[in-house]
Amino acid sequence: MKTPEEIFAEAKALVESADTPAAVEELRIRYLGKKGEVTALLKSMGGLAPEERKSFGMQANKLKQDVEALLEAKQGVLAEAGQGLRLAAERIDVTEPGRIYEPGTKHMITITMDEISGIFMRLGYSITEGPEVETVFNNFDALNAAPDHPSRDMSDTFYITEDTLLRTHTSPVQVRTLMSQEPPIKVISPGRCFRTDTPDATHSPMFHQVEGLLVDEGVTMADLKGTLDLFAKRMFGEEMRTRFRPHFFPFTEPSAEVDVSCFVCGGSAPSCRVCRGSGWIEILGCGMVHPNVLKVGGLDTDRYTGFAFGMGVERIAMLKHGIDDIRLFYENDIRFIGQFY
Ligand code: PHE
Repeated sequence: MKTPEEIFAEAKALVESADTPAAVEELRIRYLGKKGEVTALLKSMGGLAPEERKSFGMQANKLKQDVEALLEAKQGVLAEAGQGLRLAAERIDVTEPGRIYEPGTKHMITITMDEISGIFMRLGYSITEGPEVETVFNNFDALNAAPDHPSRDMSDTFYITEDTLLRTHTSPVQVRTLMSQEPPIKVISPGRCFRTDTPDATHSPMFHQVEGLLVDEGVTMADLKGTLDLFAKRMFGEEMRTRFRPHFFPFTEPSAEVDVSCFVCGGSAPSCRVCRGSGWIEILGCGMVHPNVLKVGGLDTDRYTGFAFGMGVERIAMLKHGIDDIRLFYENDIRFIGQFY
């Protein structure tokens, strides 16, 4: 049988090398548990002669106290170390530089659509929206586009099915409005459009337009010209002049394209990059609503006339802010986006 000194020496070595609270607990059971070595020693006392019992008992009890003290001291050391680790893990470095959360901004396209819409809302127009997936009927037929009109071609238009497509312009909203509202009608409709274009500096297969439609009794081309001239001045500046150039759209008659005077060179520089020396920049298409379109809405074409216009949002934003590549709008590079708000 081991002497108390031997047991103590062994316990001391083992406790010293124990490095977790669980390992220390295991040692406590090994020495002081019901079947522990120290417990066994104390129990063995019963078999001793009475004269031996006293000194042995004192030794054994001292051993028990010493081992208890060893274990307790070690648990204390480990608990303190654990606390230290926890504190280290939870340490907050108050000298660390703060994280910067950049505020978001509206996208240039949204800003421009809001600006265009705002000008017309102050003229009493209300905003209406149409779906990006349209019927072929609303996008072409109801807009008086002949069956052989080139814009209907598969190579110009994204068809979903034979009867549905990604709208090529916002003009189908004219049809939806005429079929659901009675004159006086005064709406604008901003939204996305899609054409099968290969992306380059001025083309994108997805782009934005703002459509306008006004229908009432006695509306003339003079109203159209006055409205769009006022729009150009509000959008680009009071010094802006406008020019109406004859054009063709199936759904307006007569039709025109509207140019604004070149705000880069004012028409004075033959080599101007923006107007190419012409002094004028095209900003939109427009015209008097074709009677065939009014008839789709069931309107009496002797009583009602109207005008419509459609403008490219990207183009207007590019002209206004001197942006020279349409692709910048869609790349989501915050060095670009963050310049406008
Ligand atoms: N929808 C035409 C286009 O996309 C623009 C337009 C709208 C022209 C309304 C006339 C009237 O080019």
